[in-house]
Amino acid sequence: MSEIVKVSASKCYDVVIGRGLMNEAGERIRAVNSGSALCLVTDDTVDALYGEMVENSLSAAGYRVEKFVIPHGEESKTPENYLKLVSFMAEKGLSGGDAAVALGGGVVGDLTGFAAATYRRGIGFIQLPTTLLAAVDSSVGGKTAVDLPAGKNLLGAFYQPELVLCDCDTFKTLPLETLRDGCAEIIKYGMIKDAELFGRLTDPESAATESIIRRCVEIKRDVVEADERDKGERKLLNFGHTVGHAVELLSNFSLTHGSAVAVGMAIVVRASVKLGYCGEECRDRLIDMIKAFGLPTQTEFTAAQLAKAMMADKKRAGSVVDMIIPDKIGCCVIKRTNVDELESFVAAGL
Ligand SMILES: NC(=O)c1ccc[n+]([C@@H]2O[C@H](COP(=O)([O-])OP(=O)(O)OC[C@H]3O[C@@H](n4cnc5c(N)ncnc54)[C@H](O)[C@@H]3O)[C@@H](O)[C@H]2O)c1
Repeated sequence: MSEIVKVSASKCYDVVIGRGLMNEAGERIRAVNSGSALCLVTDDTVDALYGEMVENSLSAAGYRVEKFVIPHGEESKTPENYLKLVSFMAEKGLSGGDAAVALGGGVVGDLTGFAAATYRRGIGFIQLPTTLLAAVDSSVGGKTAVDLPAGKNLLGAFYQPELVLCDCDTFKTLPLETLRDGCAEIIKYGMIKDAELFGRLTDPESAATESIIRRCVEIKRDVVEADERDKGERKLLNFGHTVGHAVELLSNFSLTHGSAVAVGMAIVVRASVKLGYCGEECRDRLIDMIKAFGLPTQTEFTAAQLAKAMMADKKRAGSVVDMIIPDKIGCCVIKRTNVDELESFVAAGL
């Protein structure tokens, strides 16, 4: 039995969470898209694992399938690949009623979504997330983008999918490190909104279940429905990310996103205790949880280095940064922080 989370944002769509869904992709997409062709976008790793299965399912549902494969990794989320992809769609004659299908992790999803948002001013868009991170985070909510030399995700659009099919069977082939990246986001959801979810988490393998993914998607759905365009409550999803992005940047992306977010959450919770925003129990439980998932809690970078890198973050609005601060497990608040205070804040959390 599949679980379904209904999202009602600028588009209404289902997020289906279950097993064996790759084989059913064609018929399930047919129910929401009456076009004749689909552009199936994936990366080389995912293509080798699931490309044929999905292509067969889409063809069996009567679609002409045009497949576009990118090399795996963040380096592929570029304006160059975006232009190649939309040009490919044009060459293959995709029309307005057709759709782009993203089969892969957040890199494939973000690139495909931006192409779908802009090609012919918007065509159909379907997400088939195959990483835990994409399942609980990037495939839901409609943020799409590619990276610019000046920074990550700087060229993008808000564009909701018509359908998300999350097949938990695909997580069996994920390397442990990639699974852990998704777990950092799951820990984040527990911290910002759901103490009960936090209490259910034990280790990476048992976090990739339908019920935990469903709960994370519900939290993301609620936040996105309240603030689709990231003006207020959606910022809560950045818990650990403002410092995390700085750690990621300073490590020249040698540290994975999930590890960087874990370090970011740890720094923020330690600082929050020192500054009197939350209690020691909250700190100890979060730090223990991060460690239980095999994720890091410390960094060798200095407060000055981190604060400088945080100032370059795109989420900074003028002279202030919205820091997400834990109040207790299951509840975080947005605290507008002056950039002059950033270094001392980070120093308190190292
Ligand atoms: N749009 C959003 O709201 C949002 C939110 C969070 C992150 N993101 C973006 O998501 C990206 C990170 O996503 P990601 O962590 O999924 O990275 P990714 O897409 O690079 O995937 C990680 C690696 O796992 C491989 N992989 C994917 N599925 C697999 C499977 N089932 N089995 C084996 N290997 C598999 C990929 O080939 C890749 O090498 C970043 O670009 C980030 O900016 C977007």
